[in-house]
Amino acid sequence: MRNVTVDNVTEVVIDSLGKHADIPARQREIMESLIRHLHGFCKDVNLTHDEFLAACDYLGRAGAMCSSKRQEFILLADILGVEVLVDMLSNPVSGNETISTVLGPFFRENAPILPKGASTVQKSFEGEETVYIEGYVRDVNGKPIAGAVVDIWEDAPNGLYENHDPDQPDYNLRGRFQTDESGHYACRAIRPVPYPIPSDETAGQLIRYMGHHPMRPGHIHMFVVAEGYRPLISQIFDSSSEYLDEDSVFAVKEELIGEFKKAPEGSDTDLVLRFDFTLAAANPQKAAAE
Ligand SMILES: [Fe+2]
Repeated sequence: MRNVTVDNVTEVVIDSLGKHADIPARQREIMESLIRHLHGFCKDVNLTHDEFLAACDYLGRAGAMCSSKRQEFILLADILGVEVLVDMLSNPVSGNETISTVLGPFFRENAPILPKGASTVQKSFEGEETVYIEGYVRDVNGKPIAGAVVDIWEDAPNGLYENHDPDQPDYNLRGRFQTDESGHYACRAIRPVPYPIPSDETAGQLIRYMGHHPMRPGHIHMFVVAEGYRPLISQIFDSSSEYLDEDSVFAVKEELIGEFKKAPEGSDTDLVLRFDFTLAAANPQKAAAE
């Protein structure tokens, strides 16, 4: 094709898909839609060449920000509401299972495996409020799930996750806890505080371009995994936190709001939080047959 025009360029590019090598149907579907939307976007806003070059420079700088401790693209997707959308499309709620929400950019694999009831706190901060967190992990029929792993991570009272704060010990405020025979899990942690998502560099540039703010309400991330069940990536939000109605990454769900209550007299923490999880079977037909 020698005569590419504004009118035919989209079809010309789509026609090139799979011309020189077979590509799977899903790959074709993704590329065709991507090309249509990208071209449509450029036409919609009549993108200038200077703006195009600025975008390429921006994406290059975002890529350079990524390391084993920082994932800038998840952050950008969060700011644009893309991760929450993909999560809702990937994990539609079909029964009474606990609703999922975004993983976010601060998850780290291989958090320490801690005994039931242990604390994730390796470094104390002035004014922190300690909390005993407990609950049950069950299936959609209410049967306890023993041996489920609850992976927990949260920010420190200075608003920073340990992997973004050189003054916190490695894996501070992170831990994995296993449920016992009755499906019960428990740990000790601290009340999470609202924090701004990293708004230096490219994420901040995007937030400012949108005229939005970077704040998230206080929340604890929970990733619950059990054999035979759909992994659940979720967060528990502090019911008394600011920003519940204006989360910068749009991840709040009503049923994920938990109450941090004053601990009973004689407790070794300031607060208690009870939160139960219900996991959907990985293969619902097989589970029903059993
Ligand atoms: Fe978070």
